[in-house]
Amino acid sequence: MTNTDPILVIGGTGTTGRRVARLLAERGRAARVASRSAAHRFDWTDPATWDAALKGVRTAYVVPNDADPRTPDLIDAARALGLERLVLLSARGNDDPEYYTDRPNLDNGHMQGEKALAGSGLEWTVLRPTWFAQNFTDGFFTPMVEAGDLRLPVHGAACPYVDADDIAEVAVAALTGDGHQGRTYEMSGPRPLTLGEVAEAFTAAGTPVAHTPVTEEEFIAERVAAGIPEEVALIWADVMGPLARGREAHLSTGVEDALGRPPRSLEDTLSRRG
Ligand SMILES: NC(=O)c1ccc[n+]([C@@H]2O[C@H](COP(=O)([O-])OP(=O)(O)OC[C@H]3O[C@@H](n4cnc5c(N)ncnc54)[C@H](OP(=O)(O)O)[C@@H]3O)[C@@H](O)[C@H]2O)c1
Repeated sequence: MTNTDPILVIGGTGTTGRRVARLLAERGRAARVASRSAAHRFDWTDPATWDAALKGVRTAYVVPNDADPRTPDLIDAARALGLERLVLLSARGNDDPEYYTDRPNLDNGHMQGEKALAGSGLEWTVLRPTWFAQNFTDGFFTPMVEAGDLRLPVHGAACPYVDADDIAEVAVAALTGDGHQGRTYEMSGPRPLTLGEVAEAFTAAGTPVAHTPVTEEEFIAERVAAGIPEEVALIWADVMGPLARGREAHLSTGVEDALGRPPRSLEDTLSRRG
């Protein structure tokens, strides 16, 4: 691999992807940003768009499409076109059989992608972060932060929210460096935080926020009333179940393992808000 090859970033307009692309550029590496709205048009649901994005690329960061997981097909297509190294974004909890209470968990879309990658013959690294801190600052929970109340169906359960800049830094290390191949990095921030503590951190950083636990039904009704499509509200309610049951409360060491430094705290995340 030479330093002049473009590195493909599928999902390069999203939370981790745009940070990966930015970091690559800062380090003098060309990033080929691909998504439905990017200059390099790539649509997970339209395989006719895949080859143009993949051609001439030997290294790729891939953000899967949870709504329609086709990562195994993409891996096949990419390998046929000469891809050598792939860093795959996944999520913590995929290998936890009790992650959900209403269905078996081990054959989810992320896991199908991870398995296909491990058997692909490519150099691979898997990133399994917990919930992103950026969900609060630049994501689905931001309207609630702006309204001053995290009205979520989570009571006392904690989560060590991880900074997307840390995820991107680990991704770039794995894309461009040695020693990360064949590794699965589970990543969290440095400390489990309840939503009450998240609210306190925002308040201390100058944005007064409270946390009001609500029922799942109230959460869905309130998000729909706020203009979120019902199917999206239902997905968020569903994925918050494991969080509410404490299955995301543990710490993971992936940031430190990959980068040799501790993960950023939520206070750090908030101090870097735009
Ligand atoms: N949010 C979290 O806390 C969290 C935690 C752990 C793991 N994850 C994982 O992170 C991944 C990304 O989630 P996110 O919520 O943070 O989203 P995101 O990365 O902010 O946005 C999704 C990205 O994918 C692109 N995209 C969406 N649909 C596409 C399609 N059909 N074809 C091509 N590109 C498409 C979007 O760009 P365009 O709209 O331009 O296509 C965007 O770049 C998911 O796999 C999720 O499971 C998220």
